Amino acid sequence: LVASFQPKVLAGRRVLITAGPTFEAIDPVRGITNLSSGKMGYAVARAAREAGADVVLVSGPTTLPTPHGVRRENVQSAQQMHDAVMAAVGGQHVFIGVAAVADWRVTNASEQKMKKHDGGAPQLEFAQNADILASVAATTSISGWPYCVGFAAESENLLEFGAIKREKKGIPLLVGNIGPQTFGQDDNTVILFDESGHTVLPRADKLTLARQLISEIAKRIDQRSF
Ligand code: CTP
Ligand code: CA
Repeated sequence: LVASFQPKVLAGRRVLITAGPTFEAIDPVRGITNLSSGKMGYAVARAAREAGADVVLVSGPTTLPTPHGVRRENVQSAQQMHDAVMAAVGGQHVFIGVAAVADWRVTNASEQKMKKHDGGAPQLEFAQNADILASVAATTSISGWPYCVGFAAESENLLEFGAIKREKKGIPLLVGNIGPQTFGQDDNTVILFDESGHTVLPRADKLTLARQLISEIAKRIDQRSF
């Protein structure tokens, strides 16, 4: 019901979103994850749906309910998230990478639960995970689809690092926030970086920010033809 009061600025658009943390297994009962709650990504999925979009949400492990009308695909590892996204990206108008994707996976995960042998600690080995956002950005068509949006939580120099990260990722829009104190919170302050500079969205709850972000995305893709 509430949804019907939002302007349908993304009617007829297909939007693919990642959200939540990833989980990188160490053994069958242990793994490495991060403090992402998924709240921001789920709020973005809800806001996109309210705006009339057809929304697919590829989600790492969270305890959040699926937003109404959103198609959700659950994954655990960064590799699974990458594969699910690449399988779904064809024909999407917008990709929004909100997930806190593990930068590394454990390459020597144990198939059996590890035991505390003679007091020795396990030696984990790591390899870098594929960059999902960069992989999607690399599929961008000449006319600019899908429109790619990234999120970045920086612990320092957000203004400088945000602008650099947007350019390095080759994406038109990057949402920056000062992490990790935003993780799990209901409120956030974000800064939008695009080719003409940055705009601060004042502190608000994540759904309000998500709706503002969706309207900013809609404005930027409105002028384009598919
Ligand atoms: N991202 C991704 N796949 C990865 C890592 C990050 O899609 N393997 C996406 C995130 O979903 C986010 C954006 O890239 O939208 C920025 O993530 P961030 O961790 O800030 O950037 P990194 O490129 O991983 O750089 P670093 O962590 O070294 O700052
Ligand atoms: Ca990272």
